[in-house]
Amino acid sequence: MYKIVRKQMLNPSVVLMEINAPYIAKKAKAGQFIIFRIDEKGERIPLTIADYDRENGTVTIIYQIAGKSTMQLSELNEGDTILDFAGPLGVPTHFEEGIKKAAVIGGGVGCAIAYPQAKALHEKGVSVDVIAGFRNKDIVILEDEFKAVSDRLIITTDDGSYGKKGFVTDALKELIDSGTKYDVVVAIGPVPMMKFVSELTRGYGIKTIVSLNPIMIDGTGMCGGCRVTVGGQVKYACVDGPDFDGHLVDFDELARRNSTYADKEKQEKEHYCRLMGGIRNA
Ligand SMILES: Cc1cc2nc3c(=O)[nH]c(=O)nc-3n(C[C@H](O)[C@H](O)[C@H](O)COP(=O)(O)OP(=O)(O)OC[C@H]3O[C@@H](n4cnc5c(N)ncnc54)[C@H](O)[C@@H]3O)c2cc1C
Ligand code: FES
Repeated sequence: MYKIVRKQMLNPSVVLMEINAPYIAKKAKAGQFIIFRIDEKGERIPLTIADYDRENGTVTIIYQIAGKSTMQLSELNEGDTILDFAGPLGVPTHFEEGIKKAAVIGGGVGCAIAYPQAKALHEKGVSVDVIAGFRNKDIVILEDEFKAVSDRLIITTDDGSYGKKGFVTDALKELIDSGTKYDVVVAIGPVPMMKFVSELTRGYGIKTIVSLNPIMIDGTGMCGGCRVTVGGQVKYACVDGPDFDGHLVDFDELARRNSTYADKEKQEKEHYCRLMGGIRNA
């Protein structure tokens, strides 16, 4: 059993939890993830290792309350336990030697996945610009954490309620056009955002790493659930990724596959909300 040692709401729908998992904390590297299961009947849900503390033996996860399982997890509190917490899974992010300047771009809760990458680059002595994009001011997360690991932090909001008005791609284009030379761009967020960042950087010939979020089940390369096409080849994001070269990813296929169970997921969420509403009102 894995104990929740800290819980913090980062905004009304994003939760940070620190979980006691010393073996994972000992081995975790940026870019890797865990798969949790709340109880014996629970779904297996992948979440990125947002941070870890090797000394205290804890792993930090940051997640959006998206549907039934993340909702169930968010209802647990400090001191409660989770049945399974398996990891570290996936290939750690590989940054080539000699990188001097990087742009790390996060979209929404993708910022939780982008943060460990920005931190890893910063710790390697790379100069890091972070562009973090959100729909509006109310859902901005990790501002202080990003400030601590970047040379320049630009926050964008779609409606202009905080930071710079516009999309992360606008801010990135502006930086590149004003003469900033990036050796690598890391883009993590919704599939369309990763696609448009990759299309932009392709024009400038800047290497771009994305972290893919296909539906995962076993996390060991056996079930085929997380199949993606990269450079015309079949890859399994859980064992070959989740990081890939953004210029080679078939984003349209990923978006199609991710929406396969949308109706079922919606039904499950509604059923769970009704059930919980009933229990609370009883
Ligand atoms: C490697 C990886 C790392 C991730 N890291 C994070 C993270 O750090 N923070 C975060 O908020 N989210 C992360 N996600 C997405 C997260 O797994 C989904 O939001 C979660 O599974 C939703 O489950 P649910 O039951 O709450 O919602 P549901 O209603 O079941 O699903 C909501 C959406 O989540 C996605 N999803 C559902 N089941 C799975 C599954 N088994 N595997 C992958 N995606 C699924 C689908 O796109 C779906 O439309 C990550 C996904 C992957 C593959
Ligand atoms: S999750 Fe089953 S093959 Fe990747």
